[in-house]
Amino acid sequence: MTDAPLLILPPDADGLARAAVFLDQGGLVAFPTETVYGLGADARNDRAVAGIYAAKGRPSFNPLIVHVPDRMSAENYCVFNNDAARLAAVFWPGALTLVLPLLPDAGISRLVTAGLDTLAVRVPDHPVAQGVLRAFGRPVAAPSANPSGRISPTTAAHVQAGLGNRINALVDGGPCGVGVESTIVSCVGRPALLRAGGIPTEALEACLGAPLALPDDPETPQAPGQLASHYAPQGTVRLNADHAETGEVLLGFGPVAADLNLSPTGDLTEAAAKLFDCLHQLDAMGAAHIAVSPIPDHGLGRAINDRLRRAAAPR
Ligand code: TXA
Ligand code: MG
Repeated sequence: MTDAPLLILPPDADGLARAAVFLDQGGLVAFPTETVYGLGADARNDRAVAGIYAAKGRPSFNPLIVHVPDRMSAENYCVFNNDAARLAAVFWPGALTLVLPLLPDAGISRLVTAGLDTLAVRVPDHPVAQGVLRAFGRPVAAPSANPSGRISPTTAAHVQAGLGNRINALVDGGPCGVGVESTIVSCVGRPALLRAGGIPTEALEACLGAPLALPDDPETPQAPGQLASHYAPQGTVRLNADHAETGEVLLGFGPVAADLNLSPTGDLTEAAAKLFDCLHQLDAMGAAHIAVSPIPDHGLGRAINDRLRRAAAPR
C-alpha cells in the first residue's frame, strides 16, 4: 500500500524507465497487456509481492502469474516438456498462460506460487507490457489490476477507479485489445485447461493434436483462483435472458434491443473486448438487476460465459 498519489505514466521510453525504477524499489505498477491490465511487482521480492495481495485484498492462497518477455527468459524459472514447447512456439507472445514445474532455484518468491511447486508463466503480446518487462529485466508477478472478486480492468480508468490510492504507478496504454484474461493450461502431466480465456480451446487442441483435460475432469489440477463468485458487478446478474424484466437492464449480444450491447453483429471477439467495460458501465449506471443475452459457447464465447457465470454466482 502507498500513501503517495498515483503517478500516471505515459507508455514512452521515459514512462517505461520510471515504471522499472518503481518495480526495482519493490513498488506496485499497473500496466496494460493485450488481455487486461496487470498489477505488477518484482516476482523475486517477497515484500513487493505481499504488496500485491494487500492492494487487491486477495486471499493469500491464490497464486500469481509471472510475466516474462520471451520463452528464453521463461526457461530460467520452469521446465518445458514437449507439449509446453509446442504451445509456447505457437501462442507466445499471447493470451496463453502455462502452468509448469517450477525450477527449485528459480528465485521466485514463495508468495507468487502460494507454496505450490508449479509456476504459471506468460509472455504477453503488448508493446507496453513488453516494454515494462524489458526495461525492468526481471520477472514480474501480475494478477489482474482490480480489487479481488471485482470486475477486471481493460482501461487505465478502470484501474484508477479500483486501486488508485493503493498502487505507486499506472502506465496508461489505452484499452486492452482482447479484453478477457489469458487461457491457462497446465502442462504438468496431460495438458489440462484450468481457465478458458483469450486463446480459444479449439486452437490449443489443434496445436496439441489432442483434446485438453477440462476443468471438471478429476485429472485436472485446480487453479486455486477459480472462485465461483468473481468478476462481480454491484447488481445481480441473470444469464441467458431473451428480454429484460421490469427493473432489469439488458446487456445484449446480437441484434436485440438492449441498454448496452456486447456486439450488435454477434461477433465474439468484439464481445470479449467489451465485456468488462460493459460491466464497469453497468456499475456506473447503478444497475441493480442485470439480464444478459445468451452467448454461443464456442471460441471466445467459452471465456465470456465462464466470466458471466462467475459474475452471476451467489456471493
Ligand atoms: O490475462 C491474464 O492472465 C492476466 C494478465 C494481467 O496477465 N492476469 C490474470 O491474473 O488474470 P489473475 O491473478 O487474475 O489470475 C491468475 C490465475 C488464478 O486463477 C490463479 O489461481 C491461477 O492463475 N494460477 C496461478 N498460478 C497457478 C499455479 N501454479 N497452478 C494453478 N493455477 C495457478
Ligand atoms: Mg483476476
